[in-house]
Amino acid sequence: MALKGKKVLIGLTGGVACYKIPYLVRFLVKEGASVRVIMTEAATKFITPLTLETVSENPVATELFPEERFVGTRHIDMAEWPDLFVIAPATANFLGKVASGISDDLLTTIVCATAQPVMIAPAMNPRMWLNPITQKNYRFLKDTGYLFIDPAEGEMACHHWGVGRVAEPEDILERIKAFFATKKPTRKLAKKKILVTAGPTREALDPVRFITNRSSGKMGYALAEAASAMGAETTLISGPVDRPVPKNVRLISVESTDDLHRAVKQEFKKTDCLIMAAAPSDFAPETVATSKIKKDGQSLQLKMKPTVDILSSVGKTKSPQQVIVGFALETEDAVNNARRKLKAKHLDMIVLNQPGEGTGFDTDTNIVTILMPGKKSVTWPMMTKRELSAKLLDKLASML
Ligand SMILES: Cc1cc2nc3c(=O)[nH]c(=O)nc-3n(C[C@H](O)[C@H](O)[C@H](O)COP(=O)(O)O)c2cc1C
Repeated sequence: MALKGKKVLIGLTGGVACYKIPYLVRFLVKEGASVRVIMTEAATKFITPLTLETVSENPVATELFPEERFVGTRHIDMAEWPDLFVIAPATANFLGKVASGISDDLLTTIVCATAQPVMIAPAMNPRMWLNPITQKNYRFLKDTGYLFIDPAEGEMACHHWGVGRVAEPEDILERIKAFFATKKPTRKLAKKKILVTAGPTREALDPVRFITNRSSGKMGYALAEAASAMGAETTLISGPVDRPVPKNVRLISVESTDDLHRAVKQEFKKTDCLIMAAAPSDFAPETVATSKIKKDGQSLQLKMKPTVDILSSVGKTKSPQQVIVGFALETEDAVNNARRKLKAKHLDMIVLNQPGEGTGFDTDTNIVTILMPGKKSVTWPMMTKRELSAKLLDKLASML
């Protein structure tokens, strides 16, 4: 009874592999889980709701607008009910709809509305699986925080051979058990409001050109993902980057350092902790040409003015309960410079990174030194930006 007391919502979409799912439901019930089932219309062509009602011992939901027993916000209640939501089998159509934010039936509406973890087991013909659009949707959903049980290789119902078979019910059960076994009490930031900034800014030279930097936003997006996973109400203010927004994170998009400053000032009042992982520009052109600057064979002189210092500006308004974390990237006398910044800007912590092999801008890993007022600096070993985010937020949870 490894799943005693756990609530598992199973969603079926329209593939032949639907015939395997009653076994999964039976296994889950035997392990003590409460199981409810939702089916798309296409799924009901492959297997009847009656079979799943019988094995799950609960009514099966198929309609967004049922004629009988209509309860206005049933989809929201169902979205909040489970500890884990498992979609098996998941069609190419389902992946495409969820990746595009389409919610035109009960299942996709609940997936869109849920804040609970969602595990997806795709199943389809190998050509459908390898279709670049399916692959793009799969990667996008994975990056956004959806969990996947990848399809296996084997012979399909259509007699094609390749990758696309849904994982066996026993394997899906093991993944569900592993999910609950490893799920730690990480909601340490529940009821906290965390504001994260990420990415570069753009400072316009003329209507078509701008000055920017190499920040990819990876660090800030990983921090927002970790904060949200730990239960924080998370807002991410991001400069222009091409990254998926983590699940349950509110995004505010900005362009220039001035835009970023305005957004941070506005949001900071309602925030318990600000993490400034963005890389705003230190300088901006003194004047912005109203039309495209022409190439006339002469060299171009640019006069730059310093931009607003966002950390200093919000640091002055901070209450004793609020925590501000700054990120610093230094190339010379790094620790001393960072220590000076910590003091001058009234920060509670500086995360110092030095550009190098596998660290700093546009990398998946980082080595950082943590500086806090009155404490010795500590350098953490190289780790992925996701691991670093979880460790950093764990530390912040104890300070908040
Ligand atoms: C016999 C048959 C088998 C199918 N098997 C699959 C499948 O395994 N995977 C898949 O992605 N689509 C499969 N499809 C196509 C889907 O049923 C179709 O795209 C449908 O619109 C999916 O709807 P849904 O995602 O709302 O359930 C199959 C269609 C038929 C007729």
